[in-house]
Amino acid sequence: MIRFDKVTKVLGRKTVLDNVSFEVGEGETFVIVGLSGAGKSVTLKHMIRLMLPDSGTVSIDGEAINLLGRGALREVRSKFGVLFQSAALLQWMNVRDNVALPLREHTKMPEEEIISRVNEKLELLSLDDAGDKFPSDISGGMQKRAGLARAIIMDPKIVLYDEPTSGLDPVTSRRIDDLIVNMRKRLGITSVVVTHDLHSALAIGSRIMMLHQGQIVENAPPAGFIKSKNETVQSFLESQYITKKGKWEELSHE
Ligand SMILES: Nc1ncnc2c1ncn2[C@@H]1O[C@H](COP(=O)(O)OP(=O)(O)OP(=O)(O)O)[C@@H](O)[C@H]1O
Ligand SMILES: [Mg+2]
Repeated sequence: MIRFDKVTKVLGRKTVLDNVSFEVGEGETFVIVGLSGAGKSVTLKHMIRLMLPDSGTVSIDGEAINLLGRGALREVRSKFGVLFQSAALLQWMNVRDNVALPLREHTKMPEEEIISRVNEKLELLSLDDAGDKFPSDISGGMQKRAGLARAIIMDPKIVLYDEPTSGLDPVTSRRIDDLIVNMRKRLGITSVVVTHDLHSALAIGSRIMMLHQGQIVENAPPAGFIKSKNETVQSFLESQYITKKGKWEELSHE
């Protein structure tokens, strides 16, 4: 579904992606982890061609997107819903209008249908009562959910999430995790999730890929990821109190 083939990207003097190849299959929840600056957001940006590789190819459903013309690119982008690092709601519009925005901008759908679609998504994300509220009047967790409602309003096949749980309390974070899992179960959506939160990565990921200094240091299902022999992966796991058996009790408390 999404394929990176020997992708290299240099930004400034830094080789942010160095000959990176991987594939995200249909229906996967593919999680990308790595330290700050590792190139996670840059990787997501390549998937919708907000950035172009210096060399290598990014393909979506078997189609290389590097060379697409405008119309074809628009078509490819319409397969994606994107939740950026900040929920990025427009502050001067209420939640309902924020969620409706892509439909109003990209379709000629009649207003009645727009309203009914928006209500459906608000309900899915337990935001039934928030439609009339403005972003500044709802909590961070609700803002994320509203951003997610907007990301899926066009019924995309693939949703990209850039740190969907950052800045949220643990309970709200787990709710967002559940939503991502439900999105796959109920709607068959393929997800790519960038996160710093390994607990969440292990809970929702079908695969977890770690980027470090421009390269993939691990790409495995959760059980394999925990057992990785790579030192960078192990210290990343330990930094979040996860051991090879997944138990924090085994860490020394000296
Ligand atoms: N438009 C740009 N121009 C120049 N350098 C950039 C640009 N975008 C990203 N970079 C650099 O590329 C590297 C990777 O950035 P990226 O945003 O992908 O990191 P990240 O893994 O998402 O980090 P974080 O966890 O902090 O969000 C960083 O060193 C960043 O400074
Ligand atoms: Mg980022």
